[in-house]
Amino acid sequence: MSIAPPVRLDEVVYRVGARTIIDRLDAAITAPGITALIGPNGAGKSVTLRLIDNLLLPASGTIRIGTGRAHVRRAFVFQRPAMIRASAAYNVALGLSDLGLTRRERDARVRAALARVDLLARADDPATKLSGGEQQRLALARALASAPHLLLLDEPTANLDPAATEVIEGLLREAARAGTKVLLVSHNLGQVDRLADDVLVLSEGRAVEHGPTRQVLSAPRSAEARAYIKRELPWTSYAAAF
Ligand SMILES: Nc1ncnc2c1ncn2[C@@H]1O[C@H](COP(=O)(O)OP(=O)(O)OP(=O)(O)O)[C@@H](O)[C@H]1O
Ligand SMILES: [Mg+2]
Repeated sequence: MSIAPPVRLDEVVYRVGARTIIDRLDAAITAPGITALIGPNGAGKSVTLRLIDNLLLPASGTIRIGTGRAHVRRAFVFQRPAMIRASAAYNVALGLSDLGLTRRERDARVRAALARVDLLARADDPATKLSGGEQQRLALARALASAPHLLLLDEPTANLDPAATEVIEGLLREAARAGTKVLLVSHNLGQVDRLADDVLVLSEGRAVEHGPTRQVLSAPRSAEARAYIKRELPWTSYAAAF
Protein backbone atom coordinates (compact mmCIF):
# COMPACT_ATOMS: atom_id res chain seq x y z
CA MET A 1 0.00 0.00 0.00
CA SER A 2 1.36 3.39 -0.87
CA ILE A 3 0.89 6.77 0.71
CA ALA A 4 0.06 9.59 -1.66
CA PRO A 5 3.19 11.74 -1.93
CA PRO A 6 2.81 15.52 -2.04
CA VAL A 7 4.06 17.34 -5.14
CA ARG A 8 5.37 20.86 -4.66
CA LEU A 9 6.41 23.23 -7.42
CA ASP A 10 8.08 26.41 -6.37
CA GLU A 11 8.71 29.23 -8.86
CA VAL A 12 9.43 26.73 -11.62
CA VAL A 13 10.68 28.16 -14.90
CA TYR A 14 11.19 26.20 -18.12
CA ARG A 15 12.43 27.76 -21.33
CA VAL A 16 13.01 26.59 -24.86
CA GLY A 17 15.40 29.02 -26.51
CA ALA A 18 14.17 32.52 -25.78
CA ARG A 19 10.62 31.36 -25.08
CA THR A 20 9.43 30.95 -21.52
CA ILE A 21 7.02 28.03 -21.48
CA ILE A 22 6.64 27.60 -17.73
CA ASP A 23 6.73 30.93 -15.99
CA ARG A 24 7.34 30.85 -12.22
CA LEU A 25 4.82 28.09 -11.68
CA ASP A 26 3.79 27.63 -8.06
CA ALA A 27 1.65 24.74 -6.92
CA ALA A 28 1.30 22.67 -3.77
CA ILE A 29 -0.48 19.44 -4.54
CA THR A 30 -0.58 18.01 -1.07
CA ALA A 31 -3.93 16.27 -0.67
CA PRO A 32 -4.28 12.61 -1.62
CA GLY A 33 -6.68 11.53 -4.36
CA ILE A 34 -7.00 12.82 -7.91
CA THR A 35 -5.80 16.27 -8.98
CA ALA A 36 -6.82 17.49 -12.43
CA LEU A 37 -4.55 19.80 -14.40
CA ILE A 38 -6.57 21.82 -16.89
CA GLY A 39 -6.10 24.78 -19.20
CA PRO A 40 -6.03 25.70 -22.89
CA ASN A 41 -3.83 24.14 -25.57
CA GLY A 42 -0.26 25.25 -25.12
CA ALA A 43 -0.76 26.31 -21.48
CA GLY A 44 2.09 24.02 -20.40
CA LYS A 45 0.24 21.03 -18.92
CA SER A 46 2.26 18.33 -20.68
CA VAL A 47 5.53 20.14 -20.00
CA THR A 48 4.57 20.41 -16.31
CA LEU A 49 3.96 16.65 -16.07
CA ARG A 50 7.35 16.06 -17.72
CA LEU A 51 9.03 18.39 -15.25
CA ILE A 52 7.39 16.56 -12.35
CA ASP A 53 8.56 13.24 -13.79
CA ASN A 54 12.10 14.56 -14.12
CA LEU A 55 12.08 14.10 -17.89
CA LEU A 56 12.76 17.82 -18.25
CA LEU A 57 14.85 19.99 -15.98
CA PRO A 58 13.66 23.46 -14.94
CA ALA A 59 15.83 26.49 -15.70
CA SER A 60 15.13 27.62 -12.14
CA GLY A 61 12.82 26.87 -9.25
CA THR A 62 12.33 23.60 -7.40
CA ILE A 63 10.14 20.54 -7.67
CA ARG A 64 9.76 18.33 -4.63
CA ILE A 65 7.97 15.02 -4.61
CA GLY A 66 7.17 13.16 -1.44
CA THR A 67 8.58 13.85 1.98
CA GLY A 68 12.05 12.98 3.14
CA ARG A 69 14.17 10.45 1.33
CA ALA A 70 11.63 7.71 0.62
CA HIS A 71 11.71 6.70 -3.03
CA VAL A 72 8.56 7.74 -4.88
CA ARG A 73 7.68 5.24 -7.60
CA ARG A 74 6.24 7.15 -10.54
CA ALA A 75 4.44 6.07 -13.67
CA PHE A 76 3.53 8.19 -16.67
CA VAL A 77 0.85 7.68 -19.29
CA PHE A 78 1.74 9.94 -22.19
CA GLN A 79 -0.55 11.88 -24.48
CA ARG A 80 0.72 9.72 -27.35
CA PRO A 81 1.64 6.37 -25.84
CA ALA A 82 4.84 4.85 -27.19
CA MET A 83 4.94 1.07 -27.53
CA ILE A 84 7.93 -0.97 -28.50
CA ARG A 85 7.69 -3.53 -31.28
CA ALA A 86 6.96 -6.51 -29.09
CA SER A 87 3.89 -8.17 -27.61
CA ALA A 88 1.37 -6.29 -25.52
CA ALA A 89 2.38 -8.42 -22.52
CA TYR A 90 6.06 -7.56 -22.99
CA ASN A 91 5.23 -3.86 -23.09
CA VAL A 92 3.50 -4.16 -19.72
CA ALA A 93 6.37 -6.24 -18.29
CA LEU A 94 8.75 -3.40 -19.17
CA GLY A 95 7.10 -1.27 -16.51
CA LEU A 96 8.05 -3.89 -13.90
CA SER A 97 11.69 -4.42 -14.75
CA ASP A 98 13.19 -2.65 -11.74
CA LEU A 99 10.89 -4.05 -9.05
CA GLY A 100 12.91 -7.20 -8.39
CA LEU A 101 10.03 -9.60 -9.04
CA THR A 102 10.42 -13.26 -9.89
CA ARG A 103 9.38 -14.22 -13.38
CA ARG A 104 6.25 -15.88 -12.04
CA GLU A 105 5.25 -12.80 -10.02
CA ARG A 106 5.93 -10.58 -12.99
CA ASP A 107 3.83 -12.69 -15.34
CA ALA A 108 0.94 -12.74 -12.87
CA ARG A 109 1.08 -8.94 -12.56
CA VAL A 110 1.20 -8.51 -16.32
CA ARG A 111 -1.84 -10.70 -16.82
CA ALA A 112 -3.79 -8.98 -14.03
CA ALA A 113 -2.97 -5.56 -15.49
CA LEU A 114 -4.01 -6.61 -18.99
CA ALA A 115 -7.26 -8.04 -17.61
CA ARG A 116 -8.02 -4.77 -15.83
CA VAL A 117 -8.02 -2.88 -19.13
CA ASP A 118 -9.76 -5.72 -20.96
CA LEU A 119 -6.77 -6.61 -23.14
CA LEU A 120 -5.90 -10.04 -21.81
CA ALA A 121 -7.01 -11.67 -25.06
CA ARG A 122 -4.48 -9.46 -26.90
CA ALA A 123 -1.54 -10.31 -24.65
CA ASP A 124 0.52 -11.94 -27.41
CA ASP A 125 -0.38 -9.51 -30.20
CA PRO A 126 2.24 -6.96 -31.31
CA ALA A 127 1.54 -3.81 -29.28
CA THR A 128 2.15 -1.57 -32.26
CA LYS A 129 -0.71 -3.28 -34.11
CA LEU A 130 -3.26 -2.36 -31.46
CA SER A 131 -5.59 0.54 -32.23
CA GLY A 132 -4.87 3.99 -30.77
CA GLY A 133 -7.41 3.53 -28.00
CA GLU A 134 -6.16 0.02 -27.25
CA GLN A 135 -2.60 1.32 -26.99
CA GLN A 136 -3.80 3.97 -24.57
CA ARG A 137 -5.37 1.25 -22.42
CA LEU A 138 -2.17 -0.77 -22.69
CA ALA A 139 -0.17 2.23 -21.52
CA LEU A 140 -2.43 2.48 -18.49
CA ALA A 141 -2.02 -1.24 -17.79
CA ARG A 142 1.76 -0.75 -17.90
CA ALA A 143 1.53 2.19 -15.51
CA LEU A 144 -0.81 0.50 -13.02
CA ALA A 145 1.13 -2.77 -12.99
CA SER A 146 3.95 -1.17 -11.02
CA ALA A 147 1.53 0.08 -8.31
CA PRO A 148 3.04 3.59 -8.47
CA HIS A 149 2.92 6.08 -5.60
CA LEU A 150 2.47 8.85 -8.14
CA LEU A 151 0.61 8.34 -11.41
CA LEU A 152 0.88 11.05 -14.06
CA LEU A 153 -1.59 10.89 -16.93
CA ASP A 154 -1.72 13.12 -19.99
CA GLU A 155 -5.20 12.99 -21.53
CA PRO A 156 -5.42 9.23 -21.00
CA THR A 157 -8.91 8.86 -22.44
CA ALA A 158 -8.63 11.28 -25.36
CA ASN A 159 -8.96 8.48 -27.94
CA LEU A 160 -11.25 6.17 -26.03
CA ASP A 161 -14.87 5.28 -26.63
CA PRO A 162 -17.32 5.95 -23.78
CA ALA A 163 -17.25 2.37 -22.47
CA ALA A 164 -13.45 2.24 -22.35
CA THR A 165 -13.40 5.71 -20.78
CA GLU A 166 -15.67 4.49 -18.01
CA VAL A 167 -13.38 1.51 -17.37
CA ILE A 168 -10.32 3.77 -17.16
CA GLU A 169 -12.07 6.25 -14.87
CA GLY A 170 -12.98 3.36 -12.58
CA LEU A 171 -9.35 2.19 -12.51
CA LEU A 172 -8.11 5.67 -11.67
CA ARG A 173 -10.60 5.97 -8.80
CA GLU A 174 -9.53 2.56 -7.54
CA ALA A 175 -5.83 3.49 -7.73
CA ALA A 176 -6.46 6.72 -5.84
CA ARG A 177 -8.43 4.89 -3.17
CA ALA A 178 -5.55 2.47 -2.77
CA GLY A 179 -3.25 5.41 -2.01
CA THR A 180 -1.77 6.35 -5.39
CA LYS A 181 -1.57 10.09 -5.96
CA VAL A 182 -3.10 10.71 -9.39
CA LEU A 183 -2.30 13.77 -11.46
CA LEU A 184 -4.52 13.90 -14.51
CA VAL A 185 -4.42 16.27 -17.49
CA SER A 186 -7.79 16.36 -19.22
CA HIS A 187 -9.79 18.67 -21.46
CA ASN A 188 -12.90 16.68 -20.61
CA LEU A 189 -14.47 18.74 -17.86
CA GLY A 190 -17.22 16.17 -17.38
CA GLN A 191 -14.44 13.74 -16.54
CA VAL A 192 -12.73 16.26 -14.30
CA ASP A 193 -16.03 16.75 -12.49
CA ARG A 194 -16.50 12.97 -12.09
CA LEU A 195 -12.97 12.18 -10.95
CA ALA A 196 -11.03 15.05 -9.50
CA ASP A 197 -10.84 16.09 -5.87
CA ASP A 198 -9.09 19.32 -6.75
CA VAL A 199 -8.30 21.24 -9.92
CA LEU A 200 -5.22 23.21 -10.88
CA VAL A 201 -5.70 25.61 -13.80
CA LEU A 202 -2.74 26.57 -15.97
CA SER A 203 -2.62 29.49 -18.34
CA GLU A 204 0.46 30.60 -20.26
CA GLY A 205 2.75 28.58 -18.06
CA ARG A 206 1.39 29.85 -14.76
CA ALA A 207 -0.94 28.43 -12.15
CA VAL A 208 -3.90 30.80 -12.19
CA GLU A 209 -6.16 28.85 -9.86
CA HIS A 210 -6.16 25.81 -7.58
CA GLY A 211 -9.05 24.63 -5.47
CA PRO A 212 -11.71 22.00 -4.84
CA THR A 213 -13.26 20.73 -8.10
CA ARG A 214 -16.77 21.97 -7.42
CA GLN A 215 -15.56 25.44 -6.56
CA VAL A 216 -13.19 25.79 -9.51
CA LEU A 217 -15.70 24.48 -12.04
CA SER A 218 -18.75 26.34 -10.77
CA ALA A 219 -17.19 29.57 -9.54
CA PRO A 220 -13.70 30.06 -10.96
CA ARG A 221 -12.06 33.13 -9.49
CA SER A 222 -9.56 33.97 -12.21
CA ALA A 223 -10.52 35.43 -15.58
CA GLU A 224 -8.34 32.84 -17.35
CA ALA A 225 -10.02 29.89 -15.67
CA ARG A 226 -13.45 31.39 -16.30
CA ALA A 227 -12.72 31.84 -19.99
CA TYR A 228 -11.50 28.26 -20.38
CA ILE A 229 -14.21 26.58 -18.33
CA LYS A 230 -17.07 28.53 -19.83
CA ARG A 231 -16.36 27.24 -23.35
CA GLU A 232 -16.41 23.66 -22.14
CA LEU A 233 -19.51 24.05 -20.05
CA PRO A 234 -22.20 22.55 -22.25
CA TRP A 235 -20.73 19.17 -21.27
CA THR A 236 -20.86 19.65 -17.55
CA SER A 237 -23.49 20.02 -14.91
CA TYR A 238 -22.31 23.57 -14.26
CA ALA A 239 -23.80 25.18 -17.37
CA ALA A 240 -26.43 26.96 -15.30
CA ALA A 241 -23.80 28.65 -13.15
CA PHE A 242 -22.80 31.07 -15.90
N1 LIG B 1 10.70 21.13 -26.93
C1 LIG B 1 9.93 22.18 -27.24
N2 LIG B 1 10.32 23.06 -28.17
C2 LIG B 1 9.58 24.14 -28.48
N3 LIG B 1 8.40 24.41 -27.91
C3 LIG B 1 7.96 23.57 -26.98
C4 LIG B 1 8.68 22.40 -26.59
N4 LIG B 1 7.99 21.76 -25.65
C5 LIG B 1 6.87 22.48 -25.45
N5 LIG B 1 6.85 23.57 -26.25
C6 LIG B 1 5.79 24.59 -26.30
O1 LIG B 1 5.37 24.86 -24.98
C7 LIG B 1 3.98 25.15 -24.94
C8 LIG B 1 3.33 24.26 -23.90
O2 LIG B 1 3.31 22.94 -24.38
P1 LIG B 1 2.51 21.78 -23.69
O3 LIG B 1 2.70 20.58 -24.54
O4 LIG B 1 2.89 21.67 -22.26
O5 LIG B 1 1.01 22.31 -23.77
P2 LIG B 1 -0.32 21.64 -23.21
O6 LIG B 1 -0.86 22.53 -22.14
O7 LIG B 1 -0.03 20.24 -22.85
O8 LIG B 1 -1.28 21.74 -24.47
P3 LIG B 1 -2.33 20.66 -25.10
O9 LIG B 1 -3.63 20.89 -24.40
O10 LIG B 1 -2.41 21.09 -26.52
O11 LIG B 1 -1.77 19.29 -24.95
C9 LIG B 1 3.47 24.91 -26.35
O12 LIG B 1 3.30 26.14 -26.98
C10 LIG B 1 4.56 24.10 -27.01
O13 LIG B 1 4.63 24.34 -28.38
MG1 LIG C 1 -0.54 18.43 -23.67
